[in-house]
Amino acid sequence: MLKRISVTELLEGMYIHELCGSWMEHPFWKTQFLLSNPKDLQRIRDSGIRELWIDTSKGLDMSSGQTLEQVEEETAAVLQVAAPRVERRRTDLDEEIGRAAKLCDSAKAAVVQMFGDARMGLAIDVGHVTELVDEISASIMRQPSALISLARLKHANEYTYMHSVAVCALMIALARQLDLDEAQVREAGMAGLLHDIGKMRIPSALLNKPSKLSDSEFVTMRSHPTEGARILLDSRQVSAQVLGVCLHHHEKVDGSGYPHHLVGEQISLFARMGAVCDVYDAITSNRPYKAGWGPAESIHKMAEWSKGHFDEQVFQSFVRAVGIYPTGSLVRLQSGRLGVVLEQHATSLLMPRVKVFFSATSKAPIAQEVIDLADWVGRDKIVSRESAADWGFRHLDELWTGMPAR
Ligand SMILES: [Fe+2]
Ligand SMILES: [Fe+2]
Repeated sequence: MLKRISVTELLEGMYIHELCGSWMEHPFWKTQFLLSNPKDLQRIRDSGIRELWIDTSKGLDMSSGQTLEQVEEETAAVLQVAAPRVERRRTDLDEEIGRAAKLCDSAKAAVVQMFGDARMGLAIDVGHVTELVDEISASIMRQPSALISLARLKHANEYTYMHSVAVCALMIALARQLDLDEAQVREAGMAGLLHDIGKMRIPSALLNKPSKLSDSEFVTMRSHPTEGARILLDSRQVSAQVLGVCLHHHEKVDGSGYPHHLVGEQISLFARMGAVCDVYDAITSNRPYKAGWGPAESIHKMAEWSKGHFDEQVFQSFVRAVGIYPTGSLVRLQSGRLGVVLEQHATSLLMPRVKVFFSATSKAPIAQEVIDLADWVGRDKIVSRESAADWGFRHLDELWTGMPAR
C-alpha cells in the first residue's frame, strides 16, 4: 500500500516509492528504493524535499501518513477550485502557432546572446530585450497556449535558454491572470527571462552534465540565484522586483527552499510567481537523463505538492492560466477516445477543445476530429490524463502544433 508521509517520519527500512518534488532538486537517480543507508536518509533531509510516498508492502510500515485516496481527494479539490475562470475571446491556437514559433526562435537567440555576455563577464544589456518581452506579451494576449506550449518542447541541449523563454511566457500569462497592470506584466516577463542568468557563473560542464548531479555539484548549482543577483546588480538596469525573482525563485513558502529559507510572504509576490512557473517548465522539459512529465501530469503533481511548496493563491491562478489539462496533454474521454488538448474553454478548464485520434477500446487509430467538449456536455467528457510514453505515441506534439517535430 502507498502512503504519503512527512520526511520527518522517514525511517531506515522504509521503501521509498516517490519523492514529492521536482527531480531537479534532489540527487537520486532512482526514487524507488529500500532506505537502508543512513547517509541516504540525511541526503533526503538535506534536499529540501518535505514529503514522500512509501510502499508499505515492500518495507517498514507506520501508523500515520495519508493514503493514495486521501491525497487524490485533496489534490482534486485544489484543482477543482481553479476550474472555473473567465477569459476574453482570443485568436485560435492554429492562427497563433506560426507566429509564436518564430518568436520563440528569436527569443532564444536573444537569451543566448545576453547569457553569453554574462558568461564572459561582460555587462549585460537588458534594454534590447524589452521589446522582445513586449512581443511575447502580445502573443500571450492573443493566445497564451501557443508560445507557452511551444517553449515547453525544448531539446535537452538548449534547456537553459529555452527554459528562460518559457518562464518569461508563463510569468506574463500568470501576471495577466492575477490582473496586474501592463507595467507589472512586463516586469514579470523580464524577471522570467533573467531568473536563471546566474547559471552563467556555473561551469558549462556542470550545467550540461548529461547525468544526475552529485551532492557537491548540487551545492555549486544552488549558488546560481545569488550569482544571478550579483550580475543583475552590476548591470544596474533591472528593478528590485526582477532582482528579487532571480534571488528567490527557489524559495518555498514553508521555508524549505534556498538560498535564504524565507517563509510565506517574506517571499515577494513576483518570486512566489517565479517559483511556480520555474517548477512547471522544469518538470515538463526533457533533460539528457530524464524525459519530462506530460503537462497534465505535471499540473497534477504540483497540485499535490502545492501546500508548503507554493503560494496556494498564486498556484490556483497559474492553473487558471495554463489549464488543468494544458495544451498538448493526452486525455482519455468517457467514449474511449484518446485525444490531445488544443485550447482551453473560456469558462471551464474541464472542457477544453480536443483533437481525438485513437480508440483506447479497439487500440487503433480513428479519424482525427476536433471536438469542443463544451458541446458534448452529457455525451462525453475527460475521464483521465494519459501518458504518451505508455501508449507509445512519439509524435503527439505534431497533432497540436501542426508542425513536424523540431
Ligand atoms: Fe533557478
Ligand atoms: Fe529556472
